[in-house]
Amino acid sequence: MLYANVRSQGDKWKNEQKALQKCLKILPDSLNVLDVPVGTGRFFPFYKEHHHTVTGLDISPDMLAMARRHDDFSEEHMSLAEADITALPYDNDFFDVAVCMRFFNLVNADVCSQSLRELSRVSKRYAIIGFRHINKPSHFGVQAIKQHILRFVKSLKGKIVLHDIEVLNQALANAHFKIVQEEFIEKRADDTTYCVYLLEKYD
Ligand SMILES: C[S@@+](CC[C@H](N)C(=O)[O-])C[C@H]1O[C@@H](n2cnc3c(N)ncnc32)[C@H](O)[C@@H]1O
Repeated sequence: MLYANVRSQGDKWKNEQKALQKCLKILPDSLNVLDVPVGTGRFFPFYKEHHHTVTGLDISPDMLAMARRHDDFSEEHMSLAEADITALPYDNDFFDVAVCMRFFNLVNADVCSQSLRELSRVSKRYAIIGFRHINKPSHFGVQAIKQHILRFVKSLKGKIVLHDIEVLNQALANAHFKIVQEEFIEKRADDTTYCVYLLEKYD
């Protein structure tokens, strides 16, 4: 559980946990939840608290093995399987809510859009996602150049894909999702903002 332990120390992690809890409190109990990518199963305690039935999917068998070892994993109420978020092996409207955290900033704009469309297709009504966007520059000057360089260096390290807010807006429109709740997680020195969004489908 080293991966989960190392990450769980930060404020970003704690704020995400709180944001997810807040979003789940808005929704009814006993839902059919999809969590993709499920990673180490960090939200299992909250799903358990709300009596949700959970399907956790991930492309990595190693991550699924870690999720299975999570203290709150329950064979009775949870199932885990290998799957690609861009082609989910489920019928339309199969789940009540789809949760997708720490994924959209690993992939390009096209994959963001395709993945959100898949979440919308398999979810009857709701999704909860995390998304980091580049803030609109309010001025040009030393500060703006510094932030641009910081973002460039991060992209060179290949760890994170930073999107303009238009990437999120376009992906939401393509997937017929509207934002019903926005939870601020953090603003960083590279002038990006990370939020968790509760989304609802519209016709
Ligand atoms: C940063 S982790 C986030 C996991 C979890 N959502 C969390 O917040 O801790 C990213 C995860 O995405 C998974 N992943 C990457 N590409 C994927 C894909 N196309 N479909 C499903 N999972 C994918 C990785 O295996 C990894 O577990």
